[in-house]
Amino acid sequence: MRHPSYECWLQYEPVKNSGRANEYRSWCARLVVSEQGEVLNTAVDELRSGIRRMLGLRPAIAAELGPSKQIVIGTAASVLLTPDEREEASDLPEDGYFMRTVSDERGERLVIAGRAERGVLYGCFHLLRFLALGEETEELHIIETPKHRLRMINHWDNMDGSVERGYAGQSIFFDQNKFVADRGRIADYARLLASVGINGLTINNVNVHEVESKLIDDSFLNDVADVAGTFRLYGIQLYLSANYAAPITIGGLTTADPLDPSVGAWWKGAAANVYAHIPDFGGFVVKADSEHRPGPFTYGRDHAEGANMLAEALEPYGGVVIWHCFVYNCMQNWRDRKTDRARAAYDHFKPLDGKFKDNVILQIKNGPMDFQVREPVSPLFGSMDRTRHMMEFQLTQEYTGQQRHLCYLVPQWKEALDFDTYAKGEGTPVKSLIAGITAVSNIGNDDNWTGHLLAQANLYGFGRISWNSELSAEGIADEWARMTFGAEPKVAETVLDMLVRSWRIYENYTAPLGVGWMVNPGHHYGPNVDGYEYSLWGTYHYADCVGIGVDRTRETGTAYSQQYFEPNASMYDTLETCPDELLLFFHHVPYTHALRSGETVIQHIYNTHFDGAKQAEGLVAVWRQLEGLMDESRFAEVLERLQEQAEHAKEWRDIINSYFLRKSGISDKLGRMIY
Ligand code: GCU
Repeated sequence: MRHPSYECWLQYEPVKNSGRANEYRSWCARLVVSEQGEVLNTAVDELRSGIRRMLGLRPAIAAELGPSKQIVIGTAASVLLTPDEREEASDLPEDGYFMRTVSDERGERLVIAGRAERGVLYGCFHLLRFLALGEETEELHIIETPKHRLRMINHWDNMDGSVERGYAGQSIFFDQNKFVADRGRIADYARLLASVGINGLTINNVNVHEVESKLIDDSFLNDVADVAGTFRLYGIQLYLSANYAAPITIGGLTTADPLDPSVGAWWKGAAANVYAHIPDFGGFVVKADSEHRPGPFTYGRDHAEGANMLAEALEPYGGVVIWHCFVYNCMQNWRDRKTDRARAAYDHFKPLDGKFKDNVILQIKNGPMDFQVREPVSPLFGSMDRTRHMMEFQLTQEYTGQQRHLCYLVPQWKEALDFDTYAKGEGTPVKSLIAGITAVSNIGNDDNWTGHLLAQANLYGFGRISWNSELSAEGIADEWARMTFGAEPKVAETVLDMLVRSWRIYENYTAPLGVGWMVNPGHHYGPNVDGYEYSLWGTYHYADCVGIGVDRTRETGTAYSQQYFEPNASMYDTLETCPDELLLFFHHVPYTHALRSGETVIQHIYNTHFDGAKQAEGLVAVWRQLEGLMDESRFAEVLERLQEQAEHAKEWRDIINSYFLRKSGISDKLGRMIY
């Protein structure tokens, strides 16, 4: 018997409402499918098992239409569809599907039709979601097409089994420098990802170390191909993170210079070998010249020269190079007030716009720093209209509580995707500019996949939002809560409420007003106000006894604000119009500066930290009310995390408040206890 959290949102609990169950049974008794195909078979199997579990019914599988109600499944090539339906399906974009009820001389049918097999699979998961949520199926008329073509997950898994920034156990792919022997869990994972529309992933860390460099040669390619085969059944394409210095480390060359013909030839050979093993291989993900990783800079070449050489090697096979823009000087001296890590990605890549080959996609983190609880959107979005680029989010909660704290991140991602860049005038949101979305995985081999059970909502939400960025964060949380915990209204409502408040709660008791980084250096957990202030890594808040914040304005600061289009550039640059929540990201101000909310900066710090710790305690109290309304084990595992969060939030509150009281000498207006 699996741990109940293992099933995540695919619980497939028996449908309780008997009216609905009868309605569903009338459709589900007969599944009609006339085609064969790997992904199509997965879809049929999933539908059968979901129907069996939710309706207690073993559907008959037929190849021809019958007179009574039935579910018809097919691609645009299926003879089961009418000519009109076939045409409609073939006009859909890649991965699209429609799902509708039809009644005519051919019988009563619920048709799930995709342009291709993957669309059919997504349509079947959609129907299963409907059943789980108790939705009406009598008059369906749904057409679904993904808003983003590439919907990816990046694993930061190392072959020794560890996961960089992983908070949910060990890797599900690797152990002791080998692939794991039991691949069952990988298939279960592929199923979860497919259920929310993910269609690509990398399995190894973007920091590619020695052993992992060999994933692209004969040392491991048979295993990689086997794993790619598992994902293929679920419509997911496999990519690998590649080491830019591989021609030296595994190829025996003396250089990795992208303009050296022997290097290009080496990569062409490597790509040919990869594709011989995995014909539908997605491509390479590359972090170069960043945080001490090798790259083209060593040879005096730029990123475009570096990426294009790899792109040429992959081009004959339709592969892509996904090139990281997380490039900055991580050794900045604190005396140097002009170098600004936030500026770096734009400064490096904007001048190269238009120089990348078509099969290069730049991967840009949502913010200019590194997945802090609050950052402005990276100004690179919108500034490169001749280069394909994609969004990178972080599911793994490196800076947002490491899956010991609750932090539902979908609202943060929504803000980033909706951000109006003004690149082509008003109404140019980030989501309209990107070729795809990816996120750093938050799963490991823990029983519940994500360490914190409620962190599963981030994985679910990421998939849903990368399929359709118009969905609301609340709507997604509601779906997730009901699919995970069942229809008991009190549970679903409480979980929804906890999720939607959690990001703000976490922000309240951690780094204030967009300044970020007040964590312990290295592992990034727990409060340490000056941890990065006095570290060589160079990420500063410049707090002294008078004020705090980073001056990124045009006149007196690093002029980072000018990397945005107007009116954003002026809005951030001007103290009066800069949003409070990002004030300290853009401005250095005295503690007595009045925010737009009316509070002073120092009083805001005190208030939010007292509030945040209290709110975290409140989460424990509301969760306790759910005792007895769900299985004991899931109740207990969440309770344990929430209790830890509440304790840790107090530590955050006290360390931050005490630091600023002593620095500023200004006491709390409300006279609360500050240590
Ligand atoms: C963060 C993270 C690193 C990671 C890096 C990246 O800095 O702490 O572990 O390698 O992001 O995205 O490359």
